[in-house]
Amino acid sequence: MNRLIKTSDGSHTIYVPELDEHYHSIHGAVQESRHVFIKNGFDTCKADPINIFEVGFGTGLNALLTAIRSIDGNRQVNYTSIEKYPVHEDIIWSLNHNDFAGKDGKKIFNLIHYSQWNQITPICKNFSLKKIKGDFTDGNHSGAYDLIYFDAFGPDKQPEMWTKEIFNFISAITVKGGIFVTYSAKGEVKRNLTACGFQVGLLPGPPGKRQIIRAVKI
Ligand SMILES: C[S@@+](CC[C@H](N)C(=O)[O-])C[C@H]1O[C@@H](n2cnc3c(N)ncnc32)[C@H](O)[C@@H]1O
Repeated sequence: MNRLIKTSDGSHTIYVPELDEHYHSIHGAVQESRHVFIKNGFDTCKADPINIFEVGFGTGLNALLTAIRSIDGNRQVNYTSIEKYPVHEDIIWSLNHNDFAGKDGKKIFNLIHYSQWNQITPICKNFSLKKIKGDFTDGNHSGAYDLIYFDAFGPDKQPEMWTKEIFNFISAITVKGGIFVTYSAKGEVKRNLTACGFQVGLLPGPPGKRQIIRAVKI
């Protein structure tokens, strides 16, 4: 059974015994999310408004930190995220992520998780959210996104999410010049992204990870 664990920065993640995999880095869940998706993704994307697509909504941590950042930076964000296996409510309401999200953290966290699936919900002045309950591998996607948060389980645990077929789905919904970020820097991931129209760059990773990928759609 999935269970909550505390990572090195004190923030929670979920352990999935069937995959022997965690939702985030055990070296710090919030630290990883801030480094990969906020610092090297959101903060580098100049689109206004920013249309973001996330693969793997999970605990909603990336959505929470992005919403907070959108308030701090006064930036308009339309955030769409797909999730095949929504996290059980008992785990969601035990997460401590809002402790790391400042004074608005709890309110935003609650709004994110009370929002209905498959409809656009305004979360705060700058941030709207559409959580899609679905399987990204189905390939039934539309839209034009400026920024992709690719946060599936790791390529060793879930190889079917890191293929050319999947990155072609991503490429088709990413605008030219759009940015793709993920925590993996595996060679095969780089090659598959390149084959699907991305210029792939490597950046230093968060603690516990040497490098991450930041790619640009060409
Ligand atoms: C590494 S976790 C990260 C989740 C999330 N971004 C977070 O911060 O909690 C990967 C997530 O991808 C979801 N996932 C796995 N396969 C999927 C698929 N085919 N379509 C959509 N989501 C999927 C998992 O259920 C899980 O929630």
